[in-house]
Amino acid sequence: MTTEVIAVIGGTGKLGAAIARRLAKAGYKVIVGSRSEESARASAETLGFGITGMDNASAAKAGDVVFVAVPFAAQDATLAEIAPHVAGKLVVDTTVPLVPPRVMRVQLPAEGSAALRAQALLGDGVTLVSGFHSVAAHKLITDADVECDVLIFGDDKTARSRIVALAEAMDLRGLHGGALANSAAAEALTSVLIFLNKTYQVDGAGIRITGTLVPPSA
Ligand SMILES: NC(=O)c1ccc[n+]([C@@H]2O[C@H](COP(=O)([O-])OP(=O)(O)OC[C@H]3O[C@@H](n4cnc5c(N)ncnc54)[C@H](OP(=O)(O)O)[C@@H]3O)[C@@H](O)[C@H]2O)c1
Repeated sequence: MTTEVIAVIGGTGKLGAAIARRLAKAGYKVIVGSRSEESARASAETLGFGITGMDNASAAKAGDVVFVAVPFAAQDATLAEIAPHVAGKLVVDTTVPLVPPRVMRVQLPAEGSAALRAQALLGDGVTLVSGFHSVAAHKLITDADVECDVLIFGDDKTARSRIVALAEAMDLRGLHGGALANSAAAEALTSVLIFLNKTYQVDGAGIRITGTLVPPSA
């Protein structure tokens, strides 16, 4: 059991619930956040593994690492809500900037990516890492092997390494994807994966990096 507290803002949703469940199952203390405390508690109870539920602000306040797993349209409002509680912390943004109805088209925001937008919204006092853009939530919520790699981005290598380790704890192969600016590539790729799902009737296409990878030194 680790003492690190992981908060998952939007943990009532598809990706957030899956991340929360995998981390709690790995022994982390996990809090799911919601705009509604009642919904958070109900989700936590359904997920099990000792997960607790709180409103988003309280969850952000309690977390050492704060995941954000909300739709792009809600990114702005959600980050504004948690901003007062995440100064000096590590925030992991999972947002893919999908703009319905054309989710199979790459539509990156003016800031360059959802991750850069998050950093701009939260300010330099927050260490921002992004990732998990290409894992299908409906697979991650199960106990089965998801069989995909996830790329993790961030300008602070130590922070990135912490999230790569959390990805490994979730039984995913987490790989360093480089600077936060590189997040645009994975965010954009998600629209391509959604297109592949539709075109080839795939139940959640993912990515695998080929070659023999030697883990980087710390
Ligand atoms: N689903 C996937 O397979 C997947 C994979 C990779 C990345 N992502 C990315 O991860 C993020 C979360 O995706 P998701 O599929 O988990 O989303 P979701 O289930 O549709 O929503 C997640 C949570 O966001 C909260 N939320 C806050 N403001 C909202 C608003 N205005 N409208 C709707 N929900 C709002 C809701 O929680 P409360 O109502 O409890 O506050 C909701 O449960 C997205 O940016 C998505 O692109 C998703």
